[in-house]
Amino acid sequence: MALQLGDDAPNFTADTTEGTITLYDYLGDSWGILFSHPRDFTPVCTTELGAVAKLKDEFDKRNTKVLAVSVDPVDSHSEWSQDIKDVTGSSPNYPIIGDPDRKVADLYGMIHPNANDTLTVRSVFVIGPDKKIKLTLTYPASTGRNFDEVLRVLDSLQLTAKHQVATPSDWRPGQDVIITTAVSDEDAAQRFPGYTTVKPYLRTTPQPTG
Ligand code: BEZ
Repeated sequence: MALQLGDDAPNFTADTTEGTITLYDYLGDSWGILFSHPRDFTPVCTTELGAVAKLKDEFDKRNTKVLAVSVDPVDSHSEWSQDIKDVTGSSPNYPIIGDPDRKVADLYGMIHPNANDTLTVRSVFVIGPDKKIKLTLTYPASTGRNFDEVLRVLDSLQLTAKHQVATPSDWRPGQDVIITTAVSDEDAAQRFPGYTTVKPYLRTTPQPTG
C-alpha cells in the first residue's frame, strides 16, 4: 500500500553524490525532504534541481535536510551537476541518491507504472523529526514543482506541530492562523487572548511565536 501521512518513513542506506547515506542518520533530529525526479539530463528536472539548490539557505533556516533521488546512478548525477549549474546558476548542494536498482523508489512508491513503468514520478515526502511522513506530493514528469510551496508547507507543518493551530488557504508566515476545533472557547481565551470568532467553528488569531 502507498505510504500515507503518519506512517513511518522507511529507512534505507544508499549511495549518493555525497557518499553512502543512511536516511535516519542523515536526518538526525532535523526535518527532511526526500524528492524524486524522473531522469538525469532532462529539461524539467534540470530546472528543478537548480531551484532546490538556490533554496538551500531557506531549508537550513527551517532545520530541514534535503535529499534527491532518481533511478540514474551516482556517476550520472555528478556529471549532470555541471549542466544544472550552467542552466540555473546553482549546482546541487545536497545529496542525490543513485537508485538504479530502484530500492528507494520502490520503498517510497515513486514509480507509478501507469504513468511510466521505469522512471520515478516527481514525488515529495516531508519527514518529521519523529521520522513520520508529514506530507506527500506527486507531480507528473511534465510539470515542474514549485519549491516555494514546499517551503510554505514546511512553515505550516512546523508551526502546527508546536501550536494548536491550523493554517488557512494560501497562508503565508506572519498572517493570521486558525485555532483548531480541539481547543474550547475557554482554552482559546487563555491561550490566544483577543482571538476573533468568524463562525463558531472558525476562530482566528495572530500567528503564535516561539
Ligand atoms: C523532464 O525533466 O523534462 C522530463 C523527464 C522525464 C520525462 C519527461 C520529461
